[in-house]
Amino acid sequence: MRVLISGAGIAGPTLAWFLAKTGAKVTIVEKSPRLLPYGQNIDIKGSAVTVMRKMGLLDEVRRLNTTEQGTRFIDSRGRPFAPFPVKEGSITSFTSEFEILRGDLAGILYKATKDHQDVEYLLGTTIKEVISNDNDSVKVELSNGEVQEFDLLVIADGQWSKARKQCFPSESVKLVDKDMYVAYWTIPRLPSDDNWWNVYHALGSRVITLRPDPHGTIRAMFSLMPCNATQKKAWQEASRGDKQTQEDLLRREFADAGWQAQRLLDSMDQAPDFYFQAIQQIRMSKWSSSRVVCLGDTAYAPTPLTGAGTSLAIIGAYVLAGELSKLMPGEHPAKALEAYERTFRPHVEEVQKIPSFVPAIAHPASAWKRWVLQTFLSTLSRIVAFRWFPGGTAEGNDDGFKLPLYTRLEEKGSQ
Ligand SMILES: Cc1cc2nc3c(=O)[nH]c(=O)nc-3n(C[C@H](O)[C@H](O)[C@H](O)COP(=O)(O)OP(=O)(O)OC[C@H]3O[C@@H](n4cnc5c(N)ncnc54)[C@H](O)[C@@H]3O)c2cc1C
Ligand SMILES: *[C@@H]1O[C@H](CO)[C@@H](O)[C@H](O)[C@H]1NC(C)=O
Ligand SMILES: *[C@@H]1O[C@H](CO)[C@@H](O)[C@H](O)[C@H]1NC(C)=O
Ligand SMILES: *[C@@H]1O[C@H](CO)[C@@H](O)[C@H](O)[C@H]1NC(C)=O
Repeated sequence: MRVLISGAGIAGPTLAWFLAKTGAKVTIVEKSPRLLPYGQNIDIKGSAVTVMRKMGLLDEVRRLNTTEQGTRFIDSRGRPFAPFPVKEGSITSFTSEFEILRGDLAGILYKATKDHQDVEYLLGTTIKEVISNDNDSVKVELSNGEVQEFDLLVIADGQWSKARKQCFPSESVKLVDKDMYVAYWTIPRLPSDDNWWNVYHALGSRVITLRPDPHGTIRAMFSLMPCNATQKKAWQEASRGDKQTQEDLLRREFADAGWQAQRLLDSMDQAPDFYFQAIQQIRMSKWSSSRVVCLGDTAYAPTPLTGAGTSLAIIGAYVLAGELSKLMPGEHPAKALEAYERTFRPHVEEVQKIPSFVPAIAHPASAWKRWVLQTFLSTLSRIVAFRWFPGGTAEGNDDGFKLPLYTRLEEKGSQ
């Protein structure tokens, strides 16, 4: 089977790893000319841990852990309170056991696949046009001018996929706006920085956090929920605007936020990886059409509010590869694409249910709401320090998804 994958993020290379095991010939096109080491902390949870173990990559993930020792909150005078240290095998910290920077995980997956004889990466290349998608093949024109035919096209190039637009009518792709905006970037580390995830709630529904990384720098994140329609319009426009517009808006709206806001805003224009995003979920009425299928954020971005985007990308890649491995040689892939969706969609829909109050509780607008939140967090952290909440272990597939077993993916060999 000849498979074209668009996007070398998390989902694309994971799928390539499992497909190569079953003897498929895989080509991956990736827009950026080199793998970008960008993105902040992501968790690998539940069944995704099992999948990474099957790939033999858990030690590498542990080695590149973020070094974060837990989460704590910063009060209005800049003092930390309510610490939640990392505890192995418990759910009582916001920092998870398998936490790694997105860019480091993408790098691990790329390294694990790039030298495989049946996997070819075309960096700096995109799909220019999907020419046809029918019973016999899917034909595409690449940005390098080549026209190629494949048995299957997997679109895994993220939330804002252009290829998805070409293959699926716009009414079948729903964007669910979570009314929240996030910006993040990397800054130089100072001796006074520590290894906690420090979370500061400024008034006016603004949050600033600082986290360590294993590369000697610090990761800043700003998030905001607009308080009124005027403010919402400004943020919405910025999310579609250029970097300068986004930076100007952040400077204007966070100047008086307090804590370390000024230091972080001052470092913004030198950052190599400034990233600004409106928080939106993707929901597709159907993930595939004949020989084209969507995977990862392209099909079902759940937003960082769920902390599950990466795990869904990893598990989805495994299930898709597993269902494809059950096809007879030469068989049309539609049967496998439907089985992938049938098996995995209920779990995705469960994960995408974010109670609508969650973002708002995390972004207190008034001093009174902030006091309630801080009191709650501080009480919770003291209870947690004494009692151990059995939350299942990270390994025990506590995500409620029953990972199917596919015999052809279990075979030792070609890797
Ligand atoms: C730069 C970046 C930073 C991120 N940072 C965070 C973060 O800090 N926290 C968080 O929770 N999530 C973050 N995410 C999202 C997170 O990676 C996903 O939610 C999750 O890992 C699912 O991965 P994915 O492989 O489906 O998509 P992604 O990880 O988004 O990967 C998509 C890949 O496709 C490539 N691509 C885009 N357009 C094209 C095109 N036209 N043709 C070919 N390739 C293309 C992109 O360069 C990227 O490599 C980030 C994503 C990116 C791209
Ligand atoms: C996390 O990484 C550091 C090095 O950056 C290492 O010393 C530590 O042992 C790692 N932690 C785990 C749990 O592997
Ligand atoms: C595609 O193949 C199926 C079954 O193999 C057949 O029933 C159908 O008519 C074909 N469609 C086209 C457009 O050739
Ligand atoms: C909207 O909210 C912003 C931020 O809190 C505030 O500065 C502005 O005055 C408000 N505008 C209106 C029209 O209420």
